[in-house]
Amino acid sequence: MTTRRPFTCSVFIGISLDGFIAREDGDLHWLTSRGEAAGDDLGYDAFIENIDTVVMGRGTYEPGLTYDPWPHADKHVVVLSSTLPEDADPRVTVRRDLDALLWHLTERGSKGVYVDGGQVIRAFLRAGLIDEMTLTTVPVLLGTGLPLFGPVGGDIPLVHVSTQVFGASVVQSTYRIHRPSD
Ligand SMILES: NC(=O)c1ccc[n+]([C@@H]2O[C@H](COP(=O)([O-])OP(=O)(O)OC[C@H]3O[C@@H](n4cnc5c(N)ncnc54)[C@H](OP(=O)(O)O)[C@@H]3O)[C@@H](O)[C@H]2O)c1
Repeated sequence: MTTRRPFTCSVFIGISLDGFIAREDGDLHWLTSRGEAAGDDLGYDAFIENIDTVVMGRGTYEPGLTYDPWPHADKHVVVLSSTLPEDADPRVTVRRDLDALLWHLTERGSKGVYVDGGQVIRAFLRAGLIDEMTLTTVPVLLGTGLPLFGPVGGDIPLVHVSTQVFGASVVQSTYRIHRPSD
């Protein structure tokens, strides 16, 4: 299920210049403090308007439980996890693996899917399921942390869509995955 699926999959994520999405202990202050200094919603509101379903890994779902208010109340939220109990949270649907998740999205009629969490994004990339990525890069080198990218089983060619520079030297670029049929 790659190009003929009935939904699009998008990434919208903040990274350090050296490609980390969180410190190893999950700390995000390096990102959130600079995002605030950039003085804008960084395009998130426009992005999320076209999203009906959020897919995230357990590693993103669990820290998000501390957010008040819950950020995805108006979306269908699916957590990919082999360990989270299926009845853990009435606000989310749990799926155990990628195949089960894809069938769920298809059966449900999802159209615009926001894919979040490093491991999950890499799993989607490996399966050829990501259509577009918006990477918001903050000007810091962390040296170590939880990575966005990793082995993906071969080159994934990209097409640059746009780049915008915000305050606090925050740079946001959007790329489309290039497919020969495009
Ligand atoms: N910088 C940003 O904008 C941003 C955005 C999102 C998240 N974050 C941060 O990134 C960290 C989480 O990222 P992460 O890469 O560590 O984790 P993640 O992708 O959010 O979640 C990883 C977990 O998801 C489950 N999972 C992933 N792929 C799976 C598959 N194919 N089948 C079944 N289950 C699968 C596994 O859960 P089980 O172990 O239960 O099987 C795995 O441990 C957090 O600190 C979060 O706050 C930052």
